Amino acid sequence: MTRALKEIRVGVIGLGLIGRELASAAMRWPHLLDLDFAPRITAICDVNPALFDWFERGLDTITLKTTDYHDLLDSDDVDVIYCAVPHNLHAQLYTDIIRAGKHLFGEKPFGIDLAANRQIMQAVAEHPEVTVAASSEMPFFPGAQRVIRDIRAGRFGQIIEAWCGFLHSSDLDPNKPINWKRMVDINGAYGCMGDLGMHALHVPLRAGWLPVNVRAMLSNIVSERPNAEGQMVPCATWDNATLVCDTPGGFPLYLQTYRIAPGETNTWYLRVLGTEFSAEFSTKYPKTLRTMRYTPGGEQAWQSVDLGTSRRTRRSRARFSSSASRTRCSRCGRRSSINWSTGATGCASRSTASRRRRRTSITGCLRRRWSHTSGGRWSR
Ligand SMILES: NC(=O)c1ccc[n+]([C@@H]2O[C@H](COP(=O)([O-])OP(=O)(O)OC[C@H]3O[C@@H](n4cnc5c(N)ncnc54)[C@H](O)[C@@H]3O)[C@@H](O)[C@H]2O)c1
Repeated sequence: MTRALKEIRVGVIGLGLIGRELASAAMRWPHLLDLDFAPRITAICDVNPALFDWFERGLDTITLKTTDYHDLLDSDDVDVIYCAVPHNLHAQLYTDIIRAGKHLFGEKPFGIDLAANRQIMQAVAEHPEVTVAASSEMPFFPGAQRVIRDIRAGRFGQIIEAWCGFLHSSDLDPNKPINWKRMVDINGAYGCMGDLGMHALHVPLRAGWLPVNVRAMLSNIVSERPNAEGQMVPCATWDNATLVCDTPGGFPLYLQTYRIAPGETNTWYLRVLGTEFSAEFSTKYPKTLRTMRYTPGGEQAWQSVDLGTSRRTRRSRARFSSSASRTRCSRCGRRSSINWSTGATGCASRSTASRRRRRTSITGCLRRRWSHTSGGRWSR
């Protein structure tokens, strides 16, 4: 018997590169088994109407097409809006969408700068009935899911350090014309960090590795690029960033967002090194998971496993987005729980009051270390 699917009516604002990705994912929805809901794209919006045609050729569900996004906010045929426009518009459009009572699947970053982020978070706080979400697609590779499962299971022992990064290389070409993602006023002064940071931070934040401080190495390697007319114009956004953060677990977290990593074309990686277990996944080798188990005095040998999309992988993927789980606190060695919905962590073996005391003392100690090493400022 065929089950009736709950339809979620989606409006798309911004029909560029990633707006098309969302539509093509919706078109492939039937590949996902065991789901009782499906998206239906009912409305599209872009200031450039020439982009409507691609959507209308692929989808016969569109009842509204418009160059004014307010039409989607007023439509009764839209439950949720996917918004994929340049960063300088995020604060205005996201707050308008939320205040119109539409659920928002927003693109990163949530704000071109801190002031814009605060505006968006204010609207989120005012409207708890509205679901607001953003996501990186990278953690949904089967290899990444396996590393996430190992984090949740506390398999690493004491975590020595963790790395997550997103690396591009096309900006190595100095003749690549500038686009809005390299312009401070449209992308944001934080350059590669605002544009790629979501991908590097998605798993660490879900794991509860909330940075308590940061040291940054930032590079602007190509400071001028040709514009559409061929004239050289300033390219002032940061090209590459390496951030080193302390975490509540007491281990360093390395985050890399690079536009100029020679040879790397859209490489996302996650590496966690621990005293009992280490694991590494990179989209450069999308089927391969590398792991190393260690017992004191034993041999240190990495192994590689080729992964498929097994039922097990699918189950762990489903759990990734919603459940609370257990891991080991790498600082005190006790079992601790991670809520994968909120990223919150806590040592399960302690009372709430003693956990609170402990968290305060760890944070206090790291804060002191931070102000000692960096003068209490974000370095540039
Ligand atoms: N998750 C990912 O992997 C990923 C990848 C690329 C981009 N993005 C994000 O998606 C967003 C869009 O990036 P893109 O690469 O698709 O850019 P893009 O330039 O290809 O598309 C942006 C679209 O927004 C339209 N637009 C501009 N102002 C508008 C307005 N007022 N109303 C309606 N439409 C408007 C433009 O005409 C353009 O078609 C950005 O936030 C970017 O960071 C995410």
